[in-house]
Amino acid sequence: MTLLHVEHLDARHGLLQAVRGVTFEIAAAETLALVGANGAGKTTLLRTIAGAHKPAAGRILFDGADITATPAYARLRTGIALVPEGRRLFAGMTVKENLLVAGVHGRPGPWNIDTVIEAFPLIAQRLNSRAANLSGGEQQATAIGRALMTNPKLLLLDEVSLGLAPVAVEAVYRSLDLLIKGGATIVLVEQDIGRALRVATRVACMLEGRIILEGAAEDMTREQVTQAYFGLRRQATS
Ligand SMILES: Nc1ncnc2c1ncn2[C@@H]1O[C@H](COP(=O)(O)OP(=O)(O)O)[C@@H](O)[C@H]1O
Ligand SMILES: [Mg+2]
Repeated sequence: MTLLHVEHLDARHGLLQAVRGVTFEIAAAETLALVGANGAGKTTLLRTIAGAHKPAAGRILFDGADITATPAYARLRTGIALVPEGRRLFAGMTVKENLLVAGVHGRPGPWNIDTVIEAFPLIAQRLNSRAANLSGGEQQATAIGRALMTNPKLLLLDEVSLGLAPVAVEAVYRSLDLLIKGGATIVLVEQDIGRALRVATRVACMLEGRIILEGAAEDMTREQVTQAYFGLRRQATS
């Protein structure tokens, strides 16, 4: 079943068109990795899906309903949660407070403080620490946990491994693998093409605002994705 359907989406920053005619679908329990160079439009696309950025044209359908004009807080309640680039935790609040605040705005469901800690053991000992005092990996785990507290149907993850030490990246991805195996529906921006191909069921590559390559991860080679990433070969999208 299609959970998210993005149709001919355009998004701008003033005169700059950051997202150009983007169309794709994602079914429940799929993981779509979104790759592309800096400035390709990945963050703008995720923010537009989450309702944090207003599209200039196109439609977004979620769970069968047109949510193009729905404000961000209402999208959260219908089940779309964004883990933003740079994590954006409430720095002065504890891990536990960051998690609890999010829970208030979401839907009822299986995620609560206990299940988040189980999925992200990294933060079990840090619940009463201020977010500002956490390591990068602990902050990222908290940011993903905070999104899960809203019990989303769709989780949008923007560059979760950016700026993390390799061991922290591994820890965060171990938790994400469990979410993926548990049937979560995820759109994941990841710079590491090898990792994107390993964790995702589908991969989409953006170049200058457009999706120029999209398909099943198992049908794609690293070389194909790398070429698309650098714009060396343009391929039609399906
Ligand atoms: N707040 C903003 N104001 C103006 N231009 C922006 C803003 N955010 C992003 N852009 C521009 O939009 C384009 C896409 O950026 P972004 O969506 O952040 O791409 P990515 O996440 O793939 O690096 C880039 O050219 C970037 O400079
Ligand atoms: Mg970005």
